[in-house]
Amino acid sequence: MRGIKSIFFSTFSLCAGVSGYVWPSPYDFLEDAYTVSSGFADGGIVAGVNPCSISPFAGLSPGRQAASEWLRVAYHDMATYSIDTGLGGLDASIGFETDRAQNVGPAMNSSLQFFRSFQSENSSMADVIALSVILAIKNCGGPSIPFRAGRIDAENGGPETVPEPQQDIATHTQLFAQQGFNVSEMIKSHLPALVACGHTIGGIHQADFPGSVENATTSTNPSGVVHFDDTFDSFDNHIPNSDARIFQADGNQTMSAYAKDPTLFASQCGALLERMLNTVPKAVQLTDVIEPLAVKPYQLALTLASNGSLVLSGYIRIFGTSAEAASATAADMPVILSWLDRNAQASAASSVSASAVSEASNSLWGNARFFQVNAIINGQTGISSFVVDWAFKTQDSLTHSDNGGSGFPLQDVVLYQPANSCVDAGGVLNRNTTTYAVIRNDMGPITAAYVDYNSNVNQVGSTSLKQITTRIPLVHTGNSSSPLYDTYSATFTSPATANQGRVTFDVVAVIAGETYASLNNPAISAAC
Ligand code: HEM
Ligand SMILES: *[C@@H]1O[C@H](CO)[C@@H](O)[C@H](O)[C@H]1NC(C)=O
Ligand SMILES: *[C@@H]1O[C@H](CO)[C@@H](O)[C@H](O)[C@H]1NC(C)=O
Ligand SMILES: *[C@@H]1O[C@H](CO)[C@@H](O)[C@H](O)[C@H]1NC(C)=O
Ligand SMILES: *[C@@H]1O[C@H](CO)[C@@H](O)[C@H](O)[C@H]1NC(C)=O
Ligand SMILES: *[C@@H]1O[C@H](CO)[C@@H](O)[C@H](O)[C@H]1NC(C)=O
Ligand SMILES: *[C@@H]1O[C@H](CO)[C@@H](O)[C@H](O)[C@H]1NC(C)=O
Ligand SMILES: *[C@@H]1O[C@H](CO)[C@@H](O)[C@H](O)[C@H]1NC(C)=O
Ligand SMILES: *[C@@H]1O[C@H](CO)[C@@H](O)[C@H](O)[C@H]1NC(C)=O
Repeated sequence: MRGIKSIFFSTFSLCAGVSGYVWPSPYDFLEDAYTVSSGFADGGIVAGVNPCSISPFAGLSPGRQAASEWLRVAYHDMATYSIDTGLGGLDASIGFETDRAQNVGPAMNSSLQFFRSFQSENSSMADVIALSVILAIKNCGGPSIPFRAGRIDAENGGPETVPEPQQDIATHTQLFAQQGFNVSEMIKSHLPALVACGHTIGGIHQADFPGSVENATTSTNPSGVVHFDDTFDSFDNHIPNSDARIFQADGNQTMSAYAKDPTLFASQCGALLERMLNTVPKAVQLTDVIEPLAVKPYQLALTLASNGSLVLSGYIRIFGTSAEAASATAADMPVILSWLDRNAQASAASSVSASAVSEASNSLWGNARFFQVNAIINGQTGISSFVVDWAFKTQDSLTHSDNGGSGFPLQDVVLYQPANSCVDAGGVLNRNTTTYAVIRNDMGPITAAYVDYNSNVNQVGSTSLKQITTRIPLVHTGNSSSPLYDTYSATFTSPATANQGRVTFDVVAVIAGETYASLNNPAISAAC
């Protein structure tokens, strides 16, 4: 449960910045996926492109390369942008464009199929596509491209403006200009060349481009791939051999400059690909850059126990990029949570040590470690926020982390109760989910209480999903283990969740005019 008070509904959108990002944020899931690449709390995306050479479907598609396919997907999605209309760009319209000759091959749908398990209420397919490229390029040894979120998915296809190999240079120049990249940026001396940045990983397949590749298909190379360069699995300045015609447009000056200077290649490609990913419809406002928070809760839940105590359980992530962060041993790191009661007062016995999670976590950007929280909180006095004091070594002085100043907020008014919540055994497709919650009974009239169930449905003509929210009223079912709380439940028919993106739900009550919500609870899987 990421509990927040009503005030956050109006203030926590879109103001997240490098320093301004505070927990909870609608983009916590994307920040988690950006930060942890494997091990405990694995974000799950990097697994699809690790190692850089791996083919889609866990290596089961010889001749193909997931990392390069993801980059091509992002370019082809973005290539529908028009600077004249301000429409298109990275908006997941690619889902509706896969049957076009411009997007030939299996890369588009198999990438989208992988990505859709990361789609959810506040992680659009377009944001997942952008994040996938950033993680893939980093994991292939390329530059660190800053990540911004907030993209909105299109509900239909865009114009057919992806450059194709049989077109002439004038056409390519005109198409790039429409996409907001000028001649220099497409290919011109001493300036970045998006094509060179794109074609440093992956290759071209005879199966899809028989006019460009001959005699490559063999029993061990079923799709007839010819790699662009000798290091197809490294985002480096080895220059593609297949685009000579394009590179000759500037007398080969860009290729020569890149070949001489790997740092120039990395920095210019990083900046150019960042612009590509951030080319979005004019109505979309991207967030500030999202970077790993130094201290961040993960799967933190506040529940009412059967003896009337409150239990805060979950994890705290500590992230750092310093040498000390790299060499720290989790078991030697002190991590202490201290909380304030529901009236924002400190009281006795209101702190607890979090214990190191033994399974390691890996990050492409630094060092992430997780600490398990299990705090028993007096149900009478409650909780409103907590802070974390921690260090990389036992003997170091503690760093005080207060989430940008006001602590990590929690509300103890509306609590989701996972212990009783369950899904019935019924059919595979439409099963009844029963959700339990407890809501304070001493705060005034409850004018609304409901569950917002955030799931994803198929869209005709696209492998990408569409997010929907269904609102189900909570029904008062009786007392609870605490005189302060009553029990509520909601039963509703939930669609099958297998490969239908990420399902979450919010438990909300309006009490005496104030809205209290427990947001982003994970899909229920316990059987009734
Ligand atoms: C004039 C512009 C471009 C043309 C004509 C072009 C054409 C092609 C062709 C024909 C392929 C082979 C696809 C296959 O056989 O599966 C390809 C692959 C690829 N393109 Fe481009 N491309 C262009 C620009 C770009 C740009 C700007 C990017 C990214 C920034 C990019 C990224 C890629 C990648 C990563 C692959 C490898 C895909 C794989 O390994 O499956 N391309 N491109
Ligand atoms: C998160 O998703 C919900 C449901 O689509 C939406 O109402 C809300 O505005 C989103 N928040 C942000 C910051 O995008
Ligand atoms: C292309 O854009 C770059 C900035 O990225 C600028 O420096 C250059 O002058 C532009 N070239 C043309 C021909 O407009
Ligand atoms: C492909 O093989 C055919 C038949 O052996 C040959 O005529 C042709 O020149 C080859 N093409 C290339 C590009 O090597
Ligand atoms: C272009 O430059 C690269 C790097 O200097 C070189 O390897 C390549 O042979 C050149 N190609 C042409 C057609 O001149
Ligand atoms: C109340 O229940 C919690 C969770 O089961 C338990 O950890 C805690 O020790 C109990 N507290 C008391 C005072 O019995
Ligand atoms: C699911 O819930 C609905 C409404 O409460 C009920 O009518 C239906 O019988 C339930 N289905 C199953 C399989 O229990
Ligand atoms: C991709 O999937 C969509 C939706 O299932 C389908 O309509 C489309 O034909 C597929 N495209 C390709 C190239 O397989
Ligand atoms: C809850 O209600 C039941 C039945 O009405 C009663 O037996 C029980 O004592 C009540 N529990 C509490 C904690 O008030």
